Amino acid sequence: MTAQSRENLSGLDLVAEIQRLKKERNAVILGHYYQRPEIQDLSDFVGDSLELSRKAAETDADVIAFCGVKFMAETAKILSPDKIVVLPDMDAGCSLEDSCPPEQFARFRAAHPDHIALTYINCSAEVKALSDIIVTSSSAGQIIAQIPPEQKIIFGPDRHLGGYLNRKFGRDMLLWPGVCIVHEAFSETELIKLKAQHPGAPVAAHPECPPHIIDHADYVGSTSGILQFAKTMGGDTLIVATEPHIIHQMEKAVPEKTFIGAPGADGNCNCNICPYMALNTLEKLYLALRDLEPRIELDEALRLKAKKSLDRMLEMAGGTVGKGDLGRA
Ligand code: 13P
Ligand code: SF4
Repeated sequence: MTAQSRENLSGLDLVAEIQRLKKERNAVILGHYYQRPEIQDLSDFVGDSLELSRKAAETDADVIAFCGVKFMAETAKILSPDKIVVLPDMDAGCSLEDSCPPEQFARFRAAHPDHIALTYINCSAEVKALSDIIVTSSSAGQIIAQIPPEQKIIFGPDRHLGGYLNRKFGRDMLLWPGVCIVHEAFSETELIKLKAQHPGAPVAAHPECPPHIIDHADYVGSTSGILQFAKTMGGDTLIVATEPHIIHQMEKAVPEKTFIGAPGADGNCNCNICPYMALNTLEKLYLALRDLEPRIELDEALRLKAKKSLDRMLEMAGGTVGKGDLGRA
């Protein structure tokens, strides 16, 4: 435990203090849809991985307080090296990043010299530096469409997203065997039971879900794509097969509709809360803005290498939901 986290902050109005420090520091708070509702509500911008990358690249703030996981904050630093980028909890990692150590990925690349490396943004800066083009779930479809069909591709680290892209776009990418522990935890048996209880309710799924969940989906797309589907779909009830904190934005946008998190094996959706995203709290956000720590720092040579593959994504991606997103299953 750090000295900071032992501090007693119980007397503070954290929301007011965060707002005060944000002005004082000329900071912008970027929040992912999987953050706790109280953090989403304090964020200047809430979005998916691609949108947050774009915001990080464009901001004229001096400080970016990134409320998401480490690979997202690292992406912000790669694209905005002159800004101070803080992440409320430096242990906010990602099972996909953990599954793909750079040395092993370098060996995978070296074993397939005639392949390009198309890599999911959920990876370390080192793996980005070893890649040709980065994708997010909202930009993958549009980017793959621009790669000639005869070009051989390795795709990492998410084998479910890679498998979904192979099926949808008729590709034969070689897949790294990583998974997201959150989307892996949905239960098909419980989902079928839930669908029976809500006949006619569509299912929206993130492409990090395994195929036995995707097979039940009426819509497959990024977090922003799923949110857009929630707003525009015809019915009044949606089953949401992604991290349940996104339901906060759905309930704000369309309060008259009902959103039900897809269940895990125990029949409820609590096991699908991302344990890494959940590490960020209001207390830690306050301390990060006050102390400008913990800070993302990157070696400049590594940053420049990683930036190349991210720049390729930003050039190739239309980025807007409905244009670049994966769309219906
Ligand atoms: P999005 O790019 O759809 O926001 O996904 C990020 C993520 O980590 C999903 O688990
Ligand atoms: Fe990583 Fe999965 Fe959490 Fe997204 S939900 S940050 S992929 S562990």
